[in-house]
Amino acid sequence: MAPRVAQVILFFSLSVCVLGQTWCNKNYMVTEPIVDPGGRFPTPDTSSSPLLALRCGPAIRPYLPEDAADTSTTSPTAILIDAPIVFSHISNAVPVTLGPGTLDVTVSVNGKTIASGSVPLNATKHALPFSLSALKPQKAAYTITCSATFAKSQKFSATGLLTYLPDPPADIGSVTKFDARTGALLARPLNGPKTAAFEPVFPIGFYTGYGNYLATNFTTALPQLKSQGFTVVHPVPSFDNITQLDEVLDLMEEVGLWLMYDMRLTYMSTTSVTEEVNRIKSRKNLLLWYTADEPDGTSDPLNATSLAANLINSLDGGDGLGGAGYHPVSLVLNCENFEFTAYASGADLVLQDTYTIGNNMSFSTVWGTPCTDDYGDCGCDNCHQGFPDISKRMDEFKQRIFINGWGLTKAVWTVPQGFGNETYWPRYPTGAEWIVESILGINHGGLGALHSPSYAIYSLTGIMYVGVVSWDDPTTADIKASASSLAHALAGSMNAFILSPAASIRQITLPNGVDVGLWTVGSATLVVATNINNQAMSLSLAQLQLAGGPGTVKQVFNSGSSVSSDGRTLHFDKIGSGAFIVTQ
Ligand SMILES: *[C@@H]1O[C@H](CO)[C@@H](O)[C@H](O)[C@H]1NC(C)=O
Ligand SMILES: *[C@@H]1O[C@H](CO)[C@@H](O)[C@H](O)[C@H]1NC(C)=O
Ligand SMILES: *[C@@H]1O[C@H](CO)[C@@H](O)[C@H](O)[C@H]1NC(C)=O
Ligand SMILES: *[C@@H]1O[C@H](CO)[C@@H](O)[C@H](O)[C@H]1NC(C)=O
Ligand SMILES: *[C@@H]1O[C@H](CO)[C@@H](O)[C@H](O)[C@H]1NC(C)=O
Ligand SMILES: *[C@@H]1O[C@H](CO)[C@@H](O)[C@H](O)[C@H]1NC(C)=O
Repeated sequence: MAPRVAQVILFFSLSVCVLGQTWCNKNYMVTEPIVDPGGRFPTPDTSSSPLLALRCGPAIRPYLPEDAADTSTTSPTAILIDAPIVFSHISNAVPVTLGPGTLDVTVSVNGKTIASGSVPLNATKHALPFSLSALKPQKAAYTITCSATFAKSQKFSATGLLTYLPDPPADIGSVTKFDARTGALLARPLNGPKTAAFEPVFPIGFYTGYGNYLATNFTTALPQLKSQGFTVVHPVPSFDNITQLDEVLDLMEEVGLWLMYDMRLTYMSTTSVTEEVNRIKSRKNLLLWYTADEPDGTSDPLNATSLAANLINSLDGGDGLGGAGYHPVSLVLNCENFEFTAYASGADLVLQDTYTIGNNMSFSTVWGTPCTDDYGDCGCDNCHQGFPDISKRMDEFKQRIFINGWGLTKAVWTVPQGFGNETYWPRYPTGAEWIVESILGINHGGLGALHSPSYAIYSLTGIMYVGVVSWDDPTTADIKASASSLAHALAGSMNAFILSPAASIRQITLPNGVDVGLWTVGSATLVVATNINNQAMSLSLAQLQLAGGPGTVKQVFNSGSSVSSDGRTLHFDKIGSGAFIVTQ
């Protein structure tokens, strides 16, 4: 959450409280009544008989002409098929009579078949290869129609958008692709050859104060951020002096840091967005756009984020109608459950910022009222437990994405709290707490299947990874050191697992609250674990169905953790975390 917003509200509340300010559409001032905020994500009706919810979409968005010639790169030409069997009326779910056999799937564009194959029921991201040679590069996305037949007579269908863009024109400086297999962003290495292969980027960095920090300190700050291992910088507007902004962005590019370009103050202005996108899109280090900062908190118009995304997309090489442009669009949502579908529809990457450190989550220290699910603002909407609220938020957002049929087009990123000593949050997180927040986000980005008895469905989100962009820098030396240590460990050996399309993923929350993510590639498993408790905890590798043993475990990240000398047990200090590679 942008504390800026909180301060604006504080200011307004003194002068114009008669207007009735809300947060997440809840009243929060002691003078105001409890009014149901509404806008909750609907729980789909359950079904007593099985339903098939077919989804299809391209593995990569967008494709480029070079992908037609070389399919052996990181940009495989394939249509991904999800065929979940559910007991809930989610998007595009229709009755299916189960039995032996597989789905016969045909993918067509304008009536012409481009791919076909058999797909198991319940498959996640089953790839059907196709050739781009049947298509021409163009701005407008192609509609793909996926028709499936099961047991000869049962028919199913789904559509998706396939974007195949021409080589970027001179005013586009870079291309960022979305890899639907992993949720990763792919880009050519910064400052590498113009034709270098695309590779996955793990975005880790901070929302970085501009006026109070970068504008004056950029010559020392940017090289330092790079050496600290961060990959992305998200400058926080306003950017008042464009000449100076250009100097900052030039150096950011020169030192090899990606730019997440923020239009929070201007995203609802067609004129400003047009000016900014046209100015920034030629930057070689532009990774992605960022529009609304907590539009659900301030109840921005429900169409605002999608209108902005379409405008940005149309200026960035796309059709402005849902096809991909040369860069994806992101935003952050702050509310646990307010108009998720409307606001998230305007982004490829949906960030969540669940801030639980130091604030009283049941009684508002700022407004002097209780916080409930229909009243009050405690700085963390509908939060009740602290750290577990972060995992829950990640899981809920991903589940809603699954229900809406967006699983092949959107991913969720996490915003760890890196601030404090203000409004709701009397203290900063420690570095170790910052790591717990980040690892919960990373582990819950990587769920394979999320079972939800209450919805009678499970989310086949497949293998997804998460970006980590913390609010905000400048922060404490302790947080910076911890974040830097994680960034170096990711680049060192963790990314090879987390970003691998070949990884199989499990996530386990042990009864003692230790949260574990496991990425297995071949005979090696990356174990990323965090202890949310204020007391030390241990877990045995056997609990993770890993053998371990002397010489089989290598620690690759340490924030208060260790492995026993017999290689069978992991120890965690209170609020301790670690990553380990276990070889079988
Ligand atoms: C589909 O997968 C879910 C989750 O793994 C499982 O519970 C269910 O039995 C599977 N259904 C079929 C028909 O394979
Ligand atoms: C910015 O630079 C000034 C002057 O060198 C220095 O005093 C200050 O600590 C720097 N700020 C940060 C957050 O590093
Ligand atoms: C804008 O920044 C440039 C470059 O730092 C500087 O030379 C110029 O004086 C600034 N303009 C204003 C109005 O501050
Ligand atoms: C967006 O929604 C607002 C109401 O909040 C409406 O006035 C406006 O016409 C809508 N814009 C478009 C382009 O649909
Ligand atoms: C939150 O505030 C209430 C009311 O002042 C207090 O009773 C409670 O102990 C506080 N909880 C925490 C965790 O500080
Ligand atoms: C906390 O904020 C207050 C008011 O802005 C400031 O005076 C104080 O130095 C801050 N303390 C810390 C530890 O940052």
